[in-house]
Amino acid sequence: MDILVVGGGGREHAIVKKLKESPKVRNLYCAPGNGGIAQDAVCFPVKAMDIQGMVALAKEKKVDLVVVAPDDPLAAGMVDALEAEGIRAFGPRQNAAIIESSKAFSKALMKKHNIPTAAYEVFDDYRQALDYVTKQNKFPTVIKADGLALGKGVIIAQNLEEAREALESMMLNQAFGASGSRVVIEEFLTGVELTVLAFTDGKTLRPMISSKDHKRALDNDQGLNTGGMGAIAPHPLYDEATARRCMEEIFLPTIRAMAAEGRPFKGCLYFGLMLTAEGPKVIEYNARFGDPETQVVLSLLESDLAEIFLAVAEGRLEEVEVRFSDKAAACVVMASGGYPGKYQTGYPIEGLDQCGETVYHAGTKLEKGQILTAGGRVLGVTAVRETLSEALKAAYGDVERIRFENVHFRRDIGVIR
Ligand code: AMP
Ligand code: GLY
Repeated sequence: MDILVVGGGGREHAIVKKLKESPKVRNLYCAPGNGGIAQDAVCFPVKAMDIQGMVALAKEKKVDLVVVAPDDPLAAGMVDALEAEGIRAFGPRQNAAIIESSKAFSKALMKKHNIPTAAYEVFDDYRQALDYVTKQNKFPTVIKADGLALGKGVIIAQNLEEAREALESMMLNQAFGASGSRVVIEEFLTGVELTVLAFTDGKTLRPMISSKDHKRALDNDQGLNTGGMGAIAPHPLYDEATARRCMEEIFLPTIRAMAAEGRPFKGCLYFGLMLTAEGPKVIEYNARFGDPETQVVLSLLESDLAEIFLAVAEGRLEEVEVRFSDKAAACVVMASGGYPGKYQTGYPIEGLDQCGETVYHAGTKLEKGQILTAGGRVLGVTAVRETLSEALKAAYGDVERIRFENVHFRRDIGVIR
């Protein structure tokens, strides 16, 4: 098979590296890719959101499959455009990607189909939203922009003042553009948070190994929400009984609900879950692999990823096995100082040649033989060992070998609170 992977972050590097292990893969392409991906796949400078450009590239290279990894092109209908040209694609069509791109949609889906989630209301009007939180007078309360906001459209308001500020910035000042003109206000849940990614072709669902992302920028879960500063797999608190319950109460009901709505979901479905006192509940769905969860989850995948992708795209996932190793994986993200706010790029990265673990590139570029920083999240240093503590030790060992100006990383990846 010749495969084109769309995207250029750490997640895409992990997908590319795993595909490279498959004896079924001949040519591996990525667009736009990055400095590290370029060492594992042939990269083309086509932007992830350039739907026509990507379709043209897939046709020119006569690829057998396109893997659309990021949320924006999925929400914009890249899979539909590829399929319209007879090109196989891994990823949901636009009418199913809405499970991530509209929180109002996903909340209504869960309510209608009795899938456990936080209680909520939807508002299009600032005054009505403010009246609601004022009358409810229950804090913390969670305010979410309806649309995509780079993982930053969620505010946990501790009091009325913070709620007012959040509503003002989203609804009146368009802090997240049109994504925030509609908001979801929901009940604050407490419990253990974890991620389960699942392959699905719309009929069959195969969960991957559980994982945990560390979303905040600083140690002890302080600082701003980021795309994710590190991850571990499996999640130490996700046991067999919980997995069975999630399968019956959340995973299968979700794909059945999507099919019943005429929006069959094929691709990778991301379940962001909270294990509450009342049982597991959905915090959010994503229509794609998580980043950096993918880096740890795919590190433990033993089955052939190319075979799974093709089976999903062709609607015959039932035929393939999805097997994971019983080891543990840890990924520590090395970011540009300042991320998720303002940061500088273009700094040389040293020490990569002294690393023994897998270093996924997230935001890098290759210039005159030198790898430079080129994004907020720069690298994801990932190790696999028999136990989690050994994996963490190995990953942090390599983190100490890598140097670039203003580097920032968390020292508490793997700590469960
Ligand atoms: P999301 O982008 O929906 O994943 O939200 C970002 C983060 O906000 C999540 O990872 C949770 O830690 C937190 N969060 C979102 N919704 C809730 C909720 N209803 N209760 C408590 N925490 C939440
Ligand atoms: N790591 C969270 C996400 O990919 O949305």
